[in-house]
Amino acid sequence: MTKTSDIVIFDTTMRDGEQSPGASMTHHEKLDLGELLEDMGVNIIEAGFPAASIGDFEAVREIARRSKQAVICGLARSTPGDIDRCAEAVRHAARPRIHTFISTSPVHMKHKLKMGENAVLEAVGRSVAQARNLVDDVEWSPEDATRTEWEFLLKCVDAAITAGATTINIPDTVGYTHPEEYGTLIRKLIETVPDSDKVIWSTHCHNDLGLAVANSLAGVSAGARQVECTINGLGERAGNAALEEVVMALRVRNDTLPFATQMDTSKLAAASKMVSRITGFPVQYNKAIVGKNAFAHESGIHQDGMLKNAETYEIMKPEDVGVSKTSLVMGKHSGRHAFRDKLASMGYELDDDELLDAFKRFKALADRKKHVFDDDIAALVDDQLSAAGERIVFDRLCVVAGSDGPQTADLTVSIDGVSAQASSEGNGPVDAVFRAIRQIVPTDAKLDLYQVHAVTGGTDAQAKVSVRLKGEGIIATGQGSHTDTLVASAKAYIHALNKLEARKAKRLAA
Ligand code: KIV
Ligand code: ZN
Repeated sequence: MTKTSDIVIFDTTMRDGEQSPGASMTHHEKLDLGELLEDMGVNIIEAGFPAASIGDFEAVREIARRSKQAVICGLARSTPGDIDRCAEAVRHAARPRIHTFISTSPVHMKHKLKMGENAVLEAVGRSVAQARNLVDDVEWSPEDATRTEWEFLLKCVDAAITAGATTINIPDTVGYTHPEEYGTLIRKLIETVPDSDKVIWSTHCHNDLGLAVANSLAGVSAGARQVECTINGLGERAGNAALEEVVMALRVRNDTLPFATQMDTSKLAAASKMVSRITGFPVQYNKAIVGKNAFAHESGIHQDGMLKNAETYEIMKPEDVGVSKTSLVMGKHSGRHAFRDKLASMGYELDDDELLDAFKRFKALADRKKHVFDDDIAALVDDQLSAAGERIVFDRLCVVAGSDGPQTADLTVSIDGVSAQASSEGNGPVDAVFRAIRQIVPTDAKLDLYQVHAVTGGTDAQAKVSVRLKGEGIIATGQGSHTDTLVASAKAYIHALNKLEARKAKRLAA
């Protein structure tokens, strides 16, 4: 990055995004996501919070080892232990960064930290100096900056810069500010803080009032040159600024936002799908840029305009964000090469075995379903990838349902390669299926969410089911797809159970 109009994209999907309840990711999922983020041109990847758990530490360390040009960043509280641990995790990166923070607002200092201003100020200088002794690139954040008293914020930022911080991030931790106020705050800080030109100013906005992207852009207009954001806007509560929205706003409205990113925007749709698959969080249909309806035109007037000239109702092209124009793709006569090309155009890179497996599943689906759309293929491959390497594997299911009852489920799964079977009655077929699974794998986990979406239109559409389980303080979300809703339900429950058991085992080991 050289020009003053360049914007650094800082992705925190694996750190702030993962803090969203139920959104945790496995080690391998993080490695895959890290690779995609780097490929798409993200400048800085905040890969986790190394002191939070062994899992976080190992993921940050491995992403750092594999990194090529992206800066790999870890988060650390202002304690010496956190900072050492963070430095240890990022040290193999070609370009390591430590991001350290402490709360500076009166409400946080009094109730959360139980520290006075002097102690916080001392911690700022000490923590940044320690981090700077370990790496050259240090970011400092005053947590809850937008509710911090101005004079104290100035003192803290000044102390951080004096101690060697190279980036100053201004978090709107509780999503409280609005664009004019946030822009003014950034501008005033840049104008007032001594040596403000020696650091990069950064935005970090939460979306509690739905203003995270607008606030981030206001920060950029006011002089910030780093934007912290997450894929699909994932994050605590209402989430963080959505990366895809920030990047496309800068691209589409370059006339009034004359800033450039290094992002390959054609990978945005693939990144969105990957994060949705990994976390089990569906993307809202009308979500800007990556929602299923973001480029759909339903009303006659709009369709007519689009046929005459796409610019009538489209401010960007679907291809710009990696959504292919046609979605009716393949049938049962399509060959393996065409299928592989299709997957590549959708952002999937499978190895030979995975491709063979996906192709078999595609053929089976094409036998059951007249038209196979892109979304069908995405659901099928997501289903396959998320189940890969799991201990409990769905095998077959036979359900008796209907008004007369009792509804029953006869289920076979394999656990570590050994087949297990159970039959159960239930209060409805879904209950019968879930009871059968619990007979084979007893669990105290409670069903926290059960959701069904049709992947495409039509009565032969695949159902995509999301299941969230909660047990012993751990939340795990699973997804499953099939033209039979009950098979999709069984797969989703089993997927969630696999994740829950894996996390419990990891916690035990830790
Ligand atoms: O929202 C926030 O304040 C944060 C900081 C740790 C940067 O995520
Ligand atoms: Zn945050």
